[in-house]
Amino acid sequence: PTIYAITPTYSRPVQKAELTRLANTFRQVAQLHWILVEDRATRSELVSSFLARAGLPNTHLHVPTPRRYKRPWLPRATEQRNAGLAWLRQRHQHQSAQPGVLFFADDDNTYSLELFQEMRTTRKVSVWPVGLVGGRRYERPLVKNGKVVGWYTGWREDRPFAIDMAGFAVSLQVILSNPKAVFKRRGSQPGMQESDFLKQITTVEELEPKASNCTKVLVWHTRTEKVNLANEPKSHLDTVNIEV
Ligand code: UGA
Ligand code: MN
Repeated sequence: PTIYAITPTYSRPVQKAELTRLANTFRQVAQLHWILVEDRATRSELVSSFLARAGLPNTHLHVPTPRRYKRPWLPRATEQRNAGLAWLRQRHQHQSAQPGVLFFADDDNTYSLELFQEMRTTRKVSVWPVGLVGGRRYERPLVKNGKVVGWYTGWREDRPFAIDMAGFAVSLQVILSNPKAVFKRRGSQPGMQESDFLKQITTVEELEPKASNCTKVLVWHTRTEKVNLANEPKSHLDTVNIEV
């Protein structure tokens, strides 16, 4: 099956560095299609030329987050992930679904290559641990007799699926047979987007544990430090205009 990675991304000083790191990982993965969705009204020149040279099958989408939703306490990238889902459904509407697996790959996380081997065998919805998240070294689904029976997490244990966006994959078939499943703005608090989405397409009992019954961390919720530009000149002083 093809792995579809939906990556929301937005313009900021570290963007090209993040995308470079991500592309270097994805280039090692067979049959991966990268769906990069910019949080912008138009496609940026930086991302367009980056993708043209990335050496990866890709689709370049864009949709701006409405300004009222650009708040630190509100969920991020809702519209961008939905744009990726819409593109997938549109592309596969006329053909009986080719085998495919979808996952949501934020541009700042760290992905091991083993993760892709694990997710490629997803039948419906698979799950695995995520490192460096939830105020702990890791969060993970608790597994008993091959089934998910609960969650090891330090944060909001009331979540129906106490899992980060980086902790699950969904088969294309499930995406196509649940055409209305989307990420929701209304009522969705930070940390609840994953649960709100997953409960539209699956149940906890049905989840397929990966990474040796969820005992291995193969993805890390790393977060890049905001860059210090205090010494950046007010007007352009250099003789060349360098893209960073
Ligand atoms: C956590 C989760 O890991 C995210 O999956 C979730 O979207 C997010 O919380 C949330 O609050 O909704 P966190 O590291 O705090 O992640 O969020 P970011 O990595 O800053 O953003 C998640 C993704 O959205 C990234 O791919 C980022 O490039 C993108 N993003 C962020 C935008 O497209 N626009 C923005 O304004 C901010
Ligand atoms: Mn992040």
